[in-house]
Amino acid sequence: MCGIIGYVGYRRASPVLLDGLRRLEYRGYDSAGLAVLEDQDLTLYRRVGRVAELAGAVPEKQEGHVGVGHTRWATHGGVTKENAHPHLDGTGRIAVVHNGIIENASELRGRLERDGVVFHSETDTEVLPHLIRAFYKGDPVAAVRQALLRVNGTYGIAVVFVDHPDMIVAARNGSPMVIGLGDDETLIASDTQALVRYTRRVIYLGDGEIARIDADGVQTVLLSGASTAKEVEQIDHEWGVSEKGDFDHFMQKEIHEQPESIRRCTRGRVVLEQGNAKLGGLDLSPRDLLGISAVEMLACGTSYHAALVGCMAVERLARVPAVAHIASEYRHRNPLLQRDAIFFAVSQSGETADTLGAVREVQLKGGEVLGIVNVVGSSIARACGRGTYVHSGPELAVASTKAFTSQVTALLTFSLLLARTRQISRNVGKDMAEDLLGVPEMVSRYLANQGPIVEAAHAIKDARYALFMGRGFSWPVAMEGALKLKEVAYVPCEAYPAGEMKHGPIAMLEQDTPVVVVMPNDHVREKTLSNVQEVKARGARVIMIHSEGDTEAAEQSDLSIAVPRVHDLISPLVTVIPLQLLAYHVGVLRGCDIDKPRNLAKSVTVE
Ligand code: M6R
Repeated sequence: MCGIIGYVGYRRASPVLLDGLRRLEYRGYDSAGLAVLEDQDLTLYRRVGRVAELAGAVPEKQEGHVGVGHTRWATHGGVTKENAHPHLDGTGRIAVVHNGIIENASELRGRLERDGVVFHSETDTEVLPHLIRAFYKGDPVAAVRQALLRVNGTYGIAVVFVDHPDMIVAARNGSPMVIGLGDDETLIASDTQALVRYTRRVIYLGDGEIARIDADGVQTVLLSGASTAKEVEQIDHEWGVSEKGDFDHFMQKEIHEQPESIRRCTRGRVVLEQGNAKLGGLDLSPRDLLGISAVEMLACGTSYHAALVGCMAVERLARVPAVAHIASEYRHRNPLLQRDAIFFAVSQSGETADTLGAVREVQLKGGEVLGIVNVVGSSIARACGRGTYVHSGPELAVASTKAFTSQVTALLTFSLLLARTRQISRNVGKDMAEDLLGVPEMVSRYLANQGPIVEAAHAIKDARYALFMGRGFSWPVAMEGALKLKEVAYVPCEAYPAGEMKHGPIAMLEQDTPVVVVMPNDHVREKTLSNVQEVKARGARVIMIHSEGDTEAAEQSDLSIAVPRVHDLISPLVTVIPLQLLAYHVGVLRGCDIDKPRNLAKSVTVE
């Protein structure tokens, strides 16, 4: 969950490292640090708090041209300066930054302490510099390799040595590391966002690989010592540097980017004339598609909500049984796999440890998993080997918004593809394709006329509790709305299928409790409307997301927010937008740190 950056080249390292850390800060933001090699020495700066605190501590005159930096999301050990990375060996001549968890850290620590090593932090990471020192005989790559052969767990690391002032050694096992190749400079980072300002030519380090990086490039070896050949890849335009521009927060910007990100997701994939879809990355022939007996999806958080929508669409449109699993639970129940089922791993970051674990469990049991992933070259994309990128571009706010709508779009596109091999005609397919291609316009229309969102935010901002409800496709949307509100505004709330509310949560309602109802014009609208009457009768204040022109819905609400009228299957793509905005505005009114909510990090690489 932490961010790592390393630089070796002709520029002064510290401004590059600080810029990289600012761009990686969404990965973890409780403390930050950097180490720079200069004049046969290693200078260390570490601060609790944001990268801005660290920047204030690094002198302008810092001249070194090689260094590593880190932004932390604490796992082992509290948020203190001593626990912030980089960590040093006993001589202060080797510095390590690490993302991941060393599972046998306490055993290694015990052994090192018995050999007289003194530890200065509570972290699992600190065993690494001491272990590397123990194996160091003048060859830095060999020392790192020997140390890592003793380590169990996940890591992305970058190491600098005072004795080798022109290079960095990096390694990866389960935590992302990407190397950026510039002209007379090379960077290493846990995320391409930190590199794209300098270069778009990258190499993705694989699990079990170690890289020796200098200003001229990189050489890689496996933990076994065998050298590896790496492919240089080009980062797409959509992954360029992301700035806030005229927006106050990345979350707000990313909400407003959705017309474009949804359009990118369907471009070249939804084929109107044939009433069909093309998803080349899945590499599934019509015969393969016809052979699918069931669809199962693995995901966490917002991606799980997208998967729930996807499953409903697969069942409705293609009439193939579909089920979404919470990835963190899936593999611990020793799951049974159906023959000829196809699995999708749905993930924005492509690094979520729980989802990756579930992918590995399915693969171990002989199942086929395809990725529905945003981040190109990420661990889940690589573990799946095949799949489809959702093309949201960088999503930097911790609260996911545009990735959700892109995931839903990709899954609806798959549903269309699957349905055309079975039970829907070209004409029905054409209608669906037309509806999907029309979504960006619908979302733009809503964003241009958002309704009383700010008033609704005022109605929620001081609430002790809020309830979200919806039926059918709107139930996962309600869940997503409640998750957003918790994440960015810390308002206690929950989401229920509207019909289930009377089986318990209705007891929570008091006079003026805000109840957010998602009720587009679909086949369950009438039933939801009855549930609205029930909550109103208990004094609740109803904030209703409904289809344009639904005057009855508007009359039954205290605050009515109309969205464009679309086909039910597509409704989550428009009904979720006001819920994202609502969470955003409540967070702003409550003075929350919108893009970096407390306790969270963007990619959750621990189980
Ligand atoms: O990167 P992933 O999509 O795999 O992440 C899964 C969840 O951690 C993520 O959706 C999380 O719930 C978000 N912060 C939601 O806004």
